[in-house]
Amino acid sequence: MSFSKGSWVALALLLFAALVSSVSGDHKLSARYYDKTCPNVQRIVRTVMANTVARDPAVSPAILRLFFHDCFVNGCDASVLLDSTPFFESEKVAVPNASVRGYKVIDEIKSVLEHDCPATVSCSDIIALASRDAISMLGGPNWRMPLGRKDSRTADKDGAENLPSPHDNFTALVSTFRERGLNARDMTALSGAHTVGMANCKNYRDRVNDDIDIDASFAETRRKTCPVGYSEGGMAPFDEQTPMKFDNAYYKDLIARRGLLSSDQALYGSGERQDDLVKMYSTKGEVFAKDFAKAMIKMGNISPSKETPVEVRLNCRMVNW
Ligand code: HEM
Ligand SMILES: *[C@@H]1O[C@H](CO)[C@@H](O)[C@H](O)[C@H]1NC(C)=O
Ligand SMILES: *[C@@H]1O[C@H](CO)[C@@H](O)[C@H](O)[C@H]1NC(C)=O
Repeated sequence: MSFSKGSWVALALLLFAALVSSVSGDHKLSARYYDKTCPNVQRIVRTVMANTVARDPAVSPAILRLFFHDCFVNGCDASVLLDSTPFFESEKVAVPNASVRGYKVIDEIKSVLEHDCPATVSCSDIIALASRDAISMLGGPNWRMPLGRKDSRTADKDGAENLPSPHDNFTALVSTFRERGLNARDMTALSGAHTVGMANCKNYRDRVNDDIDIDASFAETRRKTCPVGYSEGGMAPFDEQTPMKFDNAYYKDLIARRGLLSSDQALYGSGERQDDLVKMYSTKGEVFAKDFAKAMIKMGNISPSKETPVEVRLNCRMVNW
C-alpha cells in the first residue's frame, strides 16, 4: 500500500491533533484504552481490590466515595489523591477513615501497575476501575468502564466547597448535579450508593434529632449513637438491614422515612415524578442497577476544565517532578 503526499499530511495533522488533545485534558474515553499498552490493567486492579477487600470490606464503600469526590471536584482527574497541600488537608479531615482506606489501596494498585506497565495508567482511571470493582464485589452491577482519563497537575482550591452537603434540599442537590451535566434521574440513581457504607454522627445529628419527616423508631435508635449536644458521636450505617450489600434497599428506606442524611430523605416527598422514580427503584432492583451503571459512566465522563494541565502521575499522591 502506498500513501499519497496528501494522506501523509492528513496523518501528521491527525497525530498533532491527538497530541494536543491529550495535553489539554480533553479526552474521549474508551473501555479498550489500555488494550495495547497495559492489557492486564483490569485484572491487576481487580486482584488487588479483591485481596484488600477480603481483609477490610469497608474499603469498597470508601473507594466508591472517593470516585464521587474526585469526579465532582474539577472532573475525574485524581486531584482528590494529592497530598500535602493545605487545601486537600481539609478534605481528608472531613472523611478521615474513608480517605485513608482509599488512598492506601490506590497506592498499592499503582505500584503493581508501575511495575507491569510503567507510566501508563492514570490514577484517575485506577479510581474509576477500583470503584467499578468495589460495586460488583458488594453484589452490585458490573459494566465496562470507559478509560483514558488523565491526572491533574494542580489541585482545585474551591472544589471541596462545591461538593453537595448532607443538609442540602432537593433543589440544591439537583442544581449541584446539573452543573456537572447530571440530571435528577442520574442524581437519584447515584445517591443509591448510600445503600452501602457509613456516616459520622456530625453528618446525621440534625436529621435524627430535629427532623420531623422521620420514622420515630429509626430516629430513636440513631439518637443513641448521636445525641444532641455531644461533640463526639458514633458512625451509623446508611442502610441498617444490608449495610454492605449493594442493593436497592436505600430506596425502601427512603419510603419508610429512614433516610440517614437530610440529603437522602430529600429525594422522597418532593413531588410526583421524583417520588415515582424512588418507588420504582425500590421495587425494580434491576432498573436501579442499570440506571446506576449508566450514571456512573456519565459521572466518570466529567472531565477537568480545558485549562487544567494533565499527565499520567507516577505517584498518585504527588505531581510528577
Ligand atoms: C447526593 C449528594 C451526596 C451527599 C450530600 C453525600 C454525602 C455523604 C456523607 C455526608 C457521607 C458520610 C461521610 C462520613 O461521615 O464519613 C457519605 C458517605 C458516602 N457516600 Fe455520599 N453523598 C452524596 C452522593 C454520593 C454519590 C453520588 C456517591 C457515589 C456514587 C456516594 C457514595 C458514598 C459512599 C459509598 C459513602 C460511604 C463511605 C464509607 O462508608 O466509607 N455519595 N456521603
Ligand atoms: C475510624 O476507624 C476507627 C477504627 O477503624 C474508629 O475507632 C474511629 O472511630 C473511626 N473514626 C472516624 C472519625 O470515623
Ligand atoms: C433549598 O435550599 C436553598 C439554599 O441552599 C434555599 O435557598 C431554598 O429556599 C431551599 N428550597 C426549599 C424548597 O426549601
